[in-house]
Amino acid sequence: MKVLKSIKEFKSWRDQRSSLDIGFVPTLGGLHDGHLSLIKESINENKITVVSIFLNPTQFNNESDLETYPSSLPEDLSTLESLDVDLVFTPSREDIYPNGYNYKVLELKNSLVLEGKFRPGHFDGVLTVVMKLLNIVRPGNAYFGKKDYQQYILIKEMVKDFFMDMNIIALETIRETSGLAMSSRNKRLSKQGKERASYIYKTLSQASSDEEARNQLESLGLNVEYITSWMGRRFGAVEIEEVRLIDNVEI
Ligand code: PAF
Repeated sequence: MKVLKSIKEFKSWRDQRSSLDIGFVPTLGGLHDGHLSLIKESINENKITVVSIFLNPTQFNNESDLETYPSSLPEDLSTLESLDVDLVFTPSREDIYPNGYNYKVLELKNSLVLEGKFRPGHFDGVLTVVMKLLNIVRPGNAYFGKKDYQQYILIKEMVKDFFMDMNIIALETIRETSGLAMSSRNKRLSKQGKERASYIYKTLSQASSDEEARNQLESLGLNVEYITSWMGRRFGAVEIEEVRLIDNVEI
């Protein structure tokens, strides 16, 4: 497995290959089974799989969320090595934002609801970094999880709107046996917190309305930020033990 740390090194590797051969999984690090399912699918469908690990500061609208984001590069690299990933790209902040954050990708409709409403600027940071990474990697296929369904829709629409020649593929959310959606943030929950968090999925799936879901979660003592139906799915953001968790289900 190759590990390339700069755009310059990546570019000289990339220039000898064709987009059609490359499957790409961008990550913030802190890899879990949700990432692994994307990576395995990419390995199955493409000749070459590239995974990026870049903790993107511009998508964190809260400094402490960025500081407490669980990341462990050595552990992630050994996980990726055991999966037989071809290349891991770990650029620096200076490489990705050489002139600071002066240019941004802004979306003015779907980025302003749900997560965008509660985390102002979050999707500007996501779309900007994904645009940069897709332009560097130039894959044929790029993989995203449905746990971040709004992010997936925004990226898919951006790629279509800017005539970027690649496929954006979404895969199902991977869950623990309790139903809790896999997330790097779960590592920060206590055993009890994890048990309480398992009600998010159950409630989103079983409640007959958004209001009923909110009332049920609040009656369990969970701090609900929003429960909203959008595009045939029910979305929720809930805080437990100061950890913000999101999930969504088809309804
Ligand atoms: O979903 C994520 O992990 C991040 O938002 C992404 C797509 C890697 C961009 O930083």
